[in-house]
Order: sequence, then C-alpha cells, then structure tokens
Amino acid sequence: MAAVPTSYSIPQKALHWLMALLILFNLVFAESMEEVAEAYERGEVPSAEDLTFANIHAYVGIAVLCLGLVRLALRLTRGAPAAPAEEPPLLRLASKLAHGTFYVLFFLIPFSGIGAYYFGNETAGFLHGGPLKSLMWLLIAVHILALLVHQFYWKTPVATRMTRG
Ligand code: HEM
Ligand code: HEM
Repeated sequence: MAAVPTSYSIPQKALHWLMALLILFNLVFAESMEEVAEAYERGEVPSAEDLTFANIHAYVGIAVLCLGLVRLALRLTRGAPAAPAEEPPLLRLASKLAHGTFYVLFFLIPFSGIGAYYFGNETAGFLHGGPLKSLMWLLIAVHILALLVHQFYWKTPVATRMTRG
C-alpha cells in the first residue's frame, strides 16, 4: 500500500474547486430545467431559451459525473492526508462518512438527473430535485461549519489543506 500523503495533490485541489463551482452552479441555476420538465409533463413544447439553459444544466451535471470519476480514481490510488490527531475519533469518523457521502452524490445526482431528463423517469426526477438535492445542500453547510470549528475551536489548520497546505 502507498504511504499516506501529507497533503492533497494539485490535481486533487483543482478538482475540488472546479467541482464545487459546477455543483453550486447547478444547485442555484435549475429553474429552466424545472420549466422544461413541467412543460413536458403538460405535453407542451418548452421555450427555446428554457431548453438552452436546461441543456447547460445537463452538460454541467454530466461534467460533474466525469470529473467525479477522475477524482474517485485519484482518491483511491493516491489517498488523502490523515485527519489531525487532536480531532475526536467520533468526529473523524463523521468526516469520513461526510466525504464518502459527497462522493456517492457526485454520481447519484447526475445519474438521477439523466434518468429524469433523457428517459422521462419521474421517480428519478423526484429523487434528483428532492432528497438528493437537499442532502447535498445539508452536506455543504456541515462541511463549511466543520471547517470553521477546525479553524477557530480546535485551531487545526485544516482549512488550508485545499489551498496552499
Ligand atoms: C451536479 C449535478 C447536478 C445538480 C447539483 C443538480 C441540481 C438540480 C436542482 C437544484 C434542481 C431543481 C430541483 C428543485 O428544486 O425542484 C434540478 C432539477 C433538474 N435537474 Fe439537475 N442537477 C445536476 C445534474 C443534472 C443532470 C446531469 C441532469 C440531466 C442530464 C439534470 C436534470 C434535471 C432535471 C430533469 C430537473 C427537473 C426535475 C423535476 O423537476 O422533475 N440535472 N437539478
Ligand atoms: C459543492 C461544494 C463542495 C463539495 C462538494 C466539497 C467536497 C469535498 C470533499 C469530498 C472533500 C474531501 C477531500 C477529497 O476527497 O477531495 C473536501 C475537502 C475539503 N474541502 Fe470541500 N467541498 C465543497 C466546498 C468547499 C468550500 C466552499 C470550502 C471552503 C470554504 C471547502 C474546503 C475544503 C477543505 C479545506 C477540505 C480539506 C479537508 C480535509 O483535509 O479533511 N470545500 N471537500
């Protein structure tokens, strides 16, 4: 087994920030996609503008899926730096679980979107825009809160590990 790295590699950092940007973009800009989905449900033809923005949502999401595969391969082959020793074991486990769930969502969210958009699967559409979307928002909030706790409560510099660390 390869030695545990002391920092994230530059490709891992680049993927983290690029994917964060793309995911947040799709979380915030999904209105046209909803308009298109509703138009199809009513048997109407969506407007050209809505279709354009819906396709952007789809391509951005598919990019997340592809980048997620590269990121997972890097994570499995290169690994990640260990959690700071000061962190309580239970929270170390919680952070592993949260990061693991992020990876699962990198695939489940785009796949459910593809199921809804290209195959008209209503259950996939419900999961995509309901529980999976909410779980992603929740994890992002917890992720940022955890970084703040590290920085200001435990005073462990975890926040710099995705930048210069
Ligand atoms: C990072 C990946 C993605 C994120 C974060 C994301 C996020 C979202 C959000 C926030 C909504 C609005 C749901 C609501 O509030 O009701 C939505 C709707 C939708 N997205 Fe995505 N999406 C992603 C990828 C995709 C992909 C790859 C596709 C298809 C190729 C897609 C297709 C759809 C469809 C069809 C809807 C409408 C669902 C419905 O109302 O039935 N999404 N998405
Ligand atoms: C959509 C938004 C985000 C997602 C999906 C996300 C996901 C992740 C994941 C999965 C990891 C684990 C490392 C890996 O395997 O790549 C991680 C680590 C990290 N993230 Fe994020 N992140 C997001 C936003 C942010 C933001 C906004 C910040 C800063 C304010 C941030 C700062 C960090 C830092 C510092 C680490 C390293 C933590 C450690 O070493 O344990 N992330 N992120």
